[in-house]
Amino acid sequence: MRKLQQKIELVKDVLADAARDFSPVTFANSLGAEDMVLTDLIAKFQPDIAMFSLDTGRLPQETYDLMQTVRERYSVPLQIYFPDSAQVEGFVAQNGVNGFYDSVENRKECCRIRKVQPLKRALAGQQAWLTGMRRDQAVTRGGLAVSSFDADHGLQKFNPLLDWNNAEVWEYIKQNDVPYNKLHDRFYPSIGCAPCTRSVTPGEDIRSGRWWWENPENKECGLHVARITPIKPA
Ligand code: ADX
Ligand code: SF4
Repeated sequence: MRKLQQKIELVKDVLADAARDFSPVTFANSLGAEDMVLTDLIAKFQPDIAMFSLDTGRLPQETYDLMQTVRERYSVPLQIYFPDSAQVEGFVAQNGVNGFYDSVENRKECCRIRKVQPLKRALAGQQAWLTGMRRDQAVTRGGLAVSSFDADHGLQKFNPLLDWNNAEVWEYIKQNDVPYNKLHDRFYPSIGCAPCTRSVTPGEDIRSGRWWWENPENKECGLHVARITPIKPA
């Protein structure tokens, strides 16, 4: 309990630093459990940090339900970004609506159109962005820093919950009565697009239900590219 409170204080410091030194700053909110912790903390302590969600057009109904709940519950507006319709139409015409299953190349192209391009629009004009990534979520996330320069997007990137574990995330959610995605109660620890997310069995890796047909070493959607220069974590 005391340990969680200390971690909360550290996150509040990171949020305050980001808002003070890198305004305007925005939070990429996937509405996953970690991101709901950050939503709650930002709304309570640092409401000058904006937040946005990338609606790929293929999200589960439960995620849309939570999006609506966030709108009703919190005073901080959640801005929604959509993919470019011509690009989606082009991909679908060439590969079919579910063509992302056909190859890793197609999957990455779908993620590029539906997430990476809209992310670029969402980050335009910002000095920094925040994510809900944690170090122990995936092999690809071991080398992350709380604060680093994101050379791909040309702005500072903060991962305030980097050192939290899964139990701490859920302790915070329960203690603060934070709304969360109902799929988490049905063994979906990590939630993305509906066709690319499935439930996991107890003991399986947290992200094993995401793009489950791919190799864990390159299972990222392109939102988070590894080319970062760490600076001393806050
Ligand atoms: S990812 O592979 O989809 O990026 P994950 O779901 O673990 O992985 O998300 C990691 C972080 O990326 C989230 O905490 C959030 O900051 C950002 N993110 C992922 N998906 C979205 C989304 N649809 N909208 C906004 N941010 C997102
Ligand atoms: Fe397309 Fe699947 Fe990526 Fe969503 S997660 S953008 S449906 S490939």
